Amino acid sequence: MSKILEVENLATYFHTFKGVVKSVDRISFSMEEGEVLGVVGESGGGKSVTGFSIIRLIDPPGEITADYVLFDGENLMEKSEKEMNQIRGDKITMIFQDPMTSLNPVYTIERQIAEVLKLHQPGITKAQCRARGIELLKEVGIPNAEERIKCYPHQFSGGMRQRVVIAIALAGSPKLIIADEPTTALDVTIQAQVLQLMKRLVSEKGCALMLITHDLAVVSEITDRVNVMYCGHIVESAPTRELIEKPLHPYTRGLLASIPGSGAVREDERLEVIPGMVPNMFDLPKGCKFAPRCAACMEVCREREPETITVSPGRQVACHLCGKGEEDA
Ligand SMILES: Nc1ncnc2c1ncn2[C@@H]1O[C@H](COP(=O)(O)OP(=O)(O)OP(=O)(O)O)[C@@H](O)[C@H]1O
Ligand SMILES: [Mg+2]
Repeated sequence: MSKILEVENLATYFHTFKGVVKSVDRISFSMEEGEVLGVVGESGGGKSVTGFSIIRLIDPPGEITADYVLFDGENLMEKSEKEMNQIRGDKITMIFQDPMTSLNPVYTIERQIAEVLKLHQPGITKAQCRARGIELLKEVGIPNAEERIKCYPHQFSGGMRQRVVIAIALAGSPKLIIADEPTTALDVTIQAQVLQLMKRLVSEKGCALMLITHDLAVVSEITDRVNVMYCGHIVESAPTRELIEKPLHPYTRGLLASIPGSGAVREDERLEVIPGMVPNMFDLPKGCKFAPRCAACMEVCREREPETITVSPGRQVACHLCGKGEEDA
């Protein structure tokens, strides 16, 4: 397997009147081709900003810096705006929580699919666009696709609309899909269907999926690996099974303990809520950002930011408790 995405020291800071918000603070991670990576954490952790930063959709006063963001071997940080526009919607697509964000209400679905197809294959004819459009709608499970392709977005239900967005996302044959809370706006039964659909399609097409969500239950079902984010940092990164069975960072343990049936909580135990609140982004603690809420906090945690260490292949954690000594013991 080769890497489709390699991010090194990505930082996105917003320079506001009140001060600098370090929404994403020097994170490094990578994704394999065809991999499903979950990005989890509480609200404000920097999940969405990470997604937008990769495709460089951050407006001033936001500023992105990175040693590199290699996508398919090419550094996106060095691309012109024109080149980025080609990459977005074609090789990398983004799916948002609200399908209406991605759909244009005044165009038919046919036209919106055709736009992406033309970007990908400039010589494609109208008839070919229609045939491919119908094929894509069928792939995402839209019944009566021959007729439905002529409809406008408002003529679809929420779940069907998100399927249309997925069809459009697939039209350009992407190598990476970044999905930001793609099912949060849908009701629970539809959520599961749409997630399973995404999982199946990405595996069929060999495309990688970055699934941003606050929902660890969803993550445990469909991802291969997870990045846990807190205050702009990746505090833990691990294969999904390992993360769920043996979370290392106290923050990850807290997140897991707050979901029912996770295995992290015994039947006779109460579900826990992580005490305290996410800190004010203008006034972050000096050491570990989680220290003020951490039951296992030591003196060093308040003083010094923990380094990210690799505890085993593919497993990283940034926590003073998880020093190499303890792991070896
Ligand atoms: N344009 C902006 N200007 C200033 N601060 C911003 C801007 N966009 C995001 N932020 C800040 O960056 C931090 C990370 O935001 P982000 O949207 O990535 O969080 P998130 O993890 O996606 O949260 P949620 O689960 O609520 O979607 C937050 O503190 C947010 O307030
Ligand atoms: Mg978000």
